[in-house]
Amino acid sequence: MTRQFSTVGVVGLGTMGAGIAEVLARTGRTVIAVDVDDEGLVRGRGHLDHSTDRAVAKGKLTEADRAALLGRISYSTSLDALAGVDLVIEAVPERIELKARVFAALDRICGPDTVFASNTSSLSITEIGVHTGRPGKVVGLHFFNPTPVLKLVEVIRTVVTEPEVVTDVVAFAESLGKTPVVIGDRAGFIANALLFGYLNHAVRMYETRYATREDLDAAMRYGCGYPMGPLALLDLIGLDTAYEILDTMYHQSRNRLHAPAPLLKQMITAGLLGRKSGRGFYTYD
Ligand code: CAA
Repeated sequence: MTRQFSTVGVVGLGTMGAGIAEVLARTGRTVIAVDVDDEGLVRGRGHLDHSTDRAVAKGKLTEADRAALLGRISYSTSLDALAGVDLVIEAVPERIELKARVFAALDRICGPDTVFASNTSSLSITEIGVHTGRPGKVVGLHFFNPTPVLKLVEVIRTVVTEPEVVTDVVAFAESLGKTPVVIGDRAGFIANALLFGYLNHAVRMYETRYATREDLDAAMRYGCGYPMGPLALLDLIGLDTAYEILDTMYHQSRNRLHAPAPLLKQMITAGLLGRKSGRGFYTYD
């Protein structure tokens, strides 16, 4: 019998956490969303309102279903609210000491059977797991942006994750309408390990004025059928997030492919983070 995970905690209500909460509530799960302060919760609710408004406007969701979906999500600024959940999905900023602190606290709060999942893009699930007393119940559950749209979920198992936990989490991801893939704990997992070398290469081509941003993006959209060009995709991901992912992979593999292009750092320092700051490689309203 696979576990149902009918009550799920989501910690961190940024773009990814809010998207995950939406996907969970869509499939009838009870969601308890936690962020560090009221400002974080207001921002998270804003993401959820915007995304579900859009679905209603497109006729993909009725007003009544939207109200029911949003009604399944409750909010708290305290991790104590997660005492009774079956599964926690953590989506806080990508700092190992922060994630370690969150999971160490959850380990004291949640029951011994609660499964802990991290949505980290590139940090070590093994390292996160050892900060708990239940490393066998710790997995990676990596969603893709925009979460309500993209089907892939990477399920990351460590050398000590219990096999039943992996089976249960795979079935859970399928029940969300996603396509899970299972991989070992290596920086970048599958998709980011393949994607970010390509994105980084595009930044290098742009910074050496090899081609314009429009032509770089057009080449991959119209020549290779990608839904977005690499620079537009970096703006969607966020340049700061992309830098962290590259930097982590570079430090682990020392593969020059992943040494972050200098332009990325300069743009981040100048506050050009992509869509979320209104400007990255392109400018947004
Ligand atoms: N939330 C909810 N729905 C959204 C959305 C969002 N943020 N963005 C787009 N959509 C929906 C639209 O409503 C639309 O739905 P319908 O077809 O049912 O009407 C559908 O997605 C297509 O959207 P658009 O017509 O507006 O635009 P598009 O066809 O250009 O698609 C896109 C937009 C889905 C973002 C597409 O361009 C795409 O898939 N781009 C690639 C994204 C990608 O590679 N993401 C992975 C990043 S890496 C990552 O996330 C991992 C990491 O660790 C950083």
